[in-house]
Amino acid sequence: MDSFLIEGGTPLRGEVQVSGSKNAVLPIMAATLLTAETCVIRRVPDLSDVRFMCRILSSLGAEVDFDGSTLTVRAANITSTGDYDLIRKMRGSICILGPLLARLHQATVSLPGGCVIGTRPIDLHLKGLRCLGTQIRIDSGYIHATAPELSGAMVFLGGRAGPTVLGTANVIMAAVLAEGVTVIESAACEPEVVDLIDFLNAMGARIQGAGSPTLTITGVRALGGVEHEVIPDRIEAGTFAVAAAASGGEVILRGARPDHLGAVLDKLQEAGVPIERRGGALTVGSARALRPVDVTTMPYSGFPTDMQAQLMALMCLAPGTSILTERIFESRFMHASELMRLGADIGVEGPSAIVKGGRPLSGAEVMASDLRASAALVIAGIAASGRTQVHRVYHLDRGYERMEVKLEKLGARIQRVPGE
Ligand code: UD1
Repeated sequence: MDSFLIEGGTPLRGEVQVSGSKNAVLPIMAATLLTAETCVIRRVPDLSDVRFMCRILSSLGAEVDFDGSTLTVRAANITSTGDYDLIRKMRGSICILGPLLARLHQATVSLPGGCVIGTRPIDLHLKGLRCLGTQIRIDSGYIHATAPELSGAMVFLGGRAGPTVLGTANVIMAAVLAEGVTVIESAACEPEVVDLIDFLNAMGARIQGAGSPTLTITGVRALGGVEHEVIPDRIEAGTFAVAAAASGGEVILRGARPDHLGAVLDKLQEAGVPIERRGGALTVGSARALRPVDVTTMPYSGFPTDMQAQLMALMCLAPGTSILTERIFESRFMHASELMRLGADIGVEGPSAIVKGGRPLSGAEVMASDLRASAALVIAGIAASGRTQVHRVYHLDRGYERMEVKLEKLGARIQRVPGE
């Protein structure tokens, strides 16, 4: 397994191009299963999760061509039985369930297990699909779903922690070819869901209310091919913004969408980080004196759970006490103990992490536990003095396109050490 070796203490300076959004492209890739015609998707990030999803689509019978940026999928003849081993290994693959039901009226996918950031239930996905007329049987870790006829219905998708992103995607994709009108209440409002809806509407679907908690979907008979450009990755942009601030440098984010980054930019400004919008670029500098901030993760447009770990790394550098409260995934604090290896002072009490910032960080060997936790460790390593080795960076390769190359261009002293 590869690791990153980082010599900390260098401010990041220069420009970085934001890649296409991982969380937008995965459901969009699943949506290509809804038509026999060709779909061309541009600005696709070259990530291991994307390559994995390409293999899943191929295993279902689709013709897939990915050149590292443009993805072409033609799902003319598909089957409902893909490579279960592949599907089981990738949580995001749950979103093939809705499209397979809509197109083939049956699907078998493996039940996703828990992961380090907490239990990852799919009860809301299944509830929504049942409302549309799907019969679901769970047997030996597999979901067997059949729906001879999908019919529009009223579906409430709010859960304990609010709406579900991939659950909303699944129900939308099942409803686009259903008979009649579906109304989803408490739908996820994330920009990635809006991007999926834009993609589907361009295919000929009739979905109204994108970006709001109420979606109205009028079923159509068939969908056609489409060309689409994926939205920029707001989490990647936010990660580079935090890295710039933590390193004491100044970075221009090219192609970021500030309108998708409201809560993140607001928190950074509250912490004293200067942010400037010039044309299509966002410039993030570093604070004269970093201030501690409190934050609670929430569904969009609140502060994203996928930025909590990175903000924690930054707060380790702000003199004073910050409280970070996690409301989406209850055990998403694995990075706290790793940040402590670098000298941070963090206590976890229930859903909150209490960060006493301002102690100097110094390099250490740390272990990445999930995608965003890994990003937090890289940020802390860049800000720390001395050498940090981040093990298991395959987590980063799932969701950040050539992260070490982008960071190196900004002046970071970082190198990939091939498999130990
Ligand atoms: C997506 C994102 C992930 C992000 C998360 C929350 C992708 C590929 N992943 O994951 O990066 O961190 O949104 O913004 O887009 N829940 C239930 N029942 C369900 C489904 C979810 O109770 O059936 C709960 C979850 O346990 C969690 C909350 O709802 O507490 C939100 O999860 P959800 O929005 O579904 O996350 P994902 O779509 O899996």
